[in-house]
Amino acid sequence: MPKIAFIGAGNMASAIVTGLLAQNVCAPADLACLGGAGASAQKLAGRTGIRLASTPESLLADTDIVVVAFKPQHLAALDPQLAALCAGKLVISVLAAKTLARLATAFPAARNIVRTMPNTPSAIGAGMTGWCALAPLADADRATVLTLLRAIGREVEVPEAQIEALMGVSGCGPAFVFEFTAALREAGVAAGLDRDTAQMLAVQTLLGSARLMAETGTEPETLRNQVTSPNGTTFAGLKRMEARQFRDILVETVQAAKARAEELAQG
Ligand SMILES: NC(=O)c1ccc[n+]([C@@H]2O[C@H](COP(=O)([O-])OP(=O)(O)OC[C@H]3O[C@@H](n4cnc5c(N)ncnc54)[C@H](OP(=O)(O)O)[C@@H]3O)[C@@H](O)[C@H]2O)c1
Repeated sequence: MPKIAFIGAGNMASAIVTGLLAQNVCAPADLACLGGAGASAQKLAGRTGIRLASTPESLLADTDIVVVAFKPQHLAALDPQLAALCAGKLVISVLAAKTLARLATAFPAARNIVRTMPNTPSAIGAGMTGWCALAPLADADRATVLTLLRAIGREVEVPEAQIEALMGVSGCGPAFVFEFTAALREAGVAAGLDRDTAQMLAVQTLLGSARLMAETGTEPETLRNQVTSPNGTTFAGLKRMEARQFRDILVETVQAAKARAEELAQG
């Protein structure tokens, strides 16, 4: 694995660094970070042993892979020296709503640019990241991108035109799942359970069901049908979900997130 420099050292950089080190695909000496005016870079370097760079030159001196992991709003005020120092390097951005075209204006001389859309379960190595590249990736660069993104979970390459739809499903999806879990817990409380018990039942049911889907590779509808006897308890509940158009609500939810992502990408 080549050396990797991180511009921005907050939650997302920390998740990637932690995953790369945990999977032994990099040694701490192969990674370096630079933050802003705060203390996140010192904290990340202190916790993981990666190199804390004090200047853009020292950050980028001996690496040709750069992960851009600051807040999207910082891009407009990016140190021009940093952009110039990325000439000839592979730039991998995790910035939400920053298109490849916008990234290309910020890093005009990069060797190639990869736009990624990770999600928050990346923090525990269970993320889902969609990505696209400005130009076809060289084999070595593709291998680097896959290793890096697989350190925080699963990855899928999609055309850039699908990134906002992906944002609506996997980017925002964790929040929709958290809301579903909370609703299931509250429904349990309304049905007579105490809150702690209802919370445990809801979270473990989500976790177990998600693992069952992932580990068996079985369609959710098939697993649903396996636990639904005609006129049984699950059938009674599912009939209510259908009557209240649960699937239509989710279609609208994802469409709303996608539409907002498109607005942000244009702005
Ligand atoms: N967190 C997620 O799960 C998630 C999911 C999808 C996408 N993303 C994307 O990941 C990116 C980072 O998010 P985050 O949650 O990791 O943010 P964060 O924890 O707030 O970290 C932001 C980092 O940027 C640094 N920074 C601030 N100003 C800078 C500058 N002028 N130049 C260089 N670095 C600067 C900060 O350093 P200081 O501490 O020194 O200020 C900090 O290390 C965002 O663009 C977001 O869209 C995050």
